[in-house]
Amino acid sequence: MTRRALLLGAKSPIAQELASRLASRHDYDVILAARNSMQLAPFAADLSLRTGRRAVLLEFDALDTEALARLPEQARAVAGDFDLAVVVFGYLGDQRRAEEQADEALRIINTNYTGAALVLTHLANYLVQRGQPGGIIGIGSVAGDRGRGSNYVYGSAKGALALFLQGLRNRLAGNGIHVLTVKPGFVDTPMTEGLDGLFLVASPERVARDILAAYHRRRNVLYTPWFWRYIMLVIRSIPERVFKRLHL
Ligand SMILES: NC(=O)c1ccc[n+]([C@@H]2O[C@H](COP(=O)([O-])OP(=O)(O)OC[C@H]3O[C@@H](n4cnc5c(N)ncnc54)[C@H](OP(=O)(O)O)[C@@H]3O)[C@@H](O)[C@H]2O)c1
Repeated sequence: MTRRALLLGAKSPIAQELASRLASRHDYDVILAARNSMQLAPFAADLSLRTGRRAVLLEFDALDTEALARLPEQARAVAGDFDLAVVVFGYLGDQRRAEEQADEALRIINTNYTGAALVLTHLANYLVQRGQPGGIIGIGSVAGDRGRGSNYVYGSAKGALALFLQGLRNRLAGNGIHVLTVKPGFVDTPMTEGLDGLFLVASPERVARDILAAYHRRRNVLYTPWFWRYIMLVIRSIPERVFKRLHL
């Protein structure tokens, strides 16, 4: 049986590395879901040529909440049954603007949490109905581990997503569907382009490699690169009375 992965937010360099690796090393066909997905036609053609696997495009907008219920069936219709769904999309947004303008705060929360939680629910139901082993990978962020003044709107949405994925993992454990929560540190992608104060920035290749290794080892939560687990352990253990005086 052909193994097939659906990647949501497929214009992200992390999603493209995942797609390339899934196709070249794990014999997966891939469904690349994104806004204006036609822009991915050259990438899909190149991937197919390089790997011999099928790459199909699918239109997807996480903020179109009504359409999300139809997504799993649409993916199946264009490409066939899939056993792995990867939620990669995200929106960092502008924290300062979100403090002044409700539409920016809503966009950050609705993209990173509401849209992700809704589509994960539909994907989970689809995978359960198949009645076969499968998996879900959700990309959160280390920013979701502790609220910081400089990005707590995004951080809170990613933190909520991590909690949602934890519950989903618990719900699906008896159905043979594995759920992996990914918490990357800084990654060199358009999301972080031009931002100040970045350190220990990882490549999308490194992050994608870590994600697939963790998925195939049935890990539950992955910090990538690995040292972020310890950095966040320290950050989380700073007492609140000290933390609130730090400008982070
Ligand atoms: N880069 C980092 O340092 C970092 C750190 C921790 C976690 N992450 C997470 O890693 C994931 C991948 O991000 P990235 O770093 O690769 O950044 P990216 O290149 O900006 O990718 C994010 C993708 O999400 C898509 N997206 C945003 N809103 C969407 C919507 N409403 N519907 C559908 N797609 C939407 C964007 O699509 P368009 O191209 O159409 O805008 C974009 O391709 C995200 O979940 C991000 O939060 C990134």
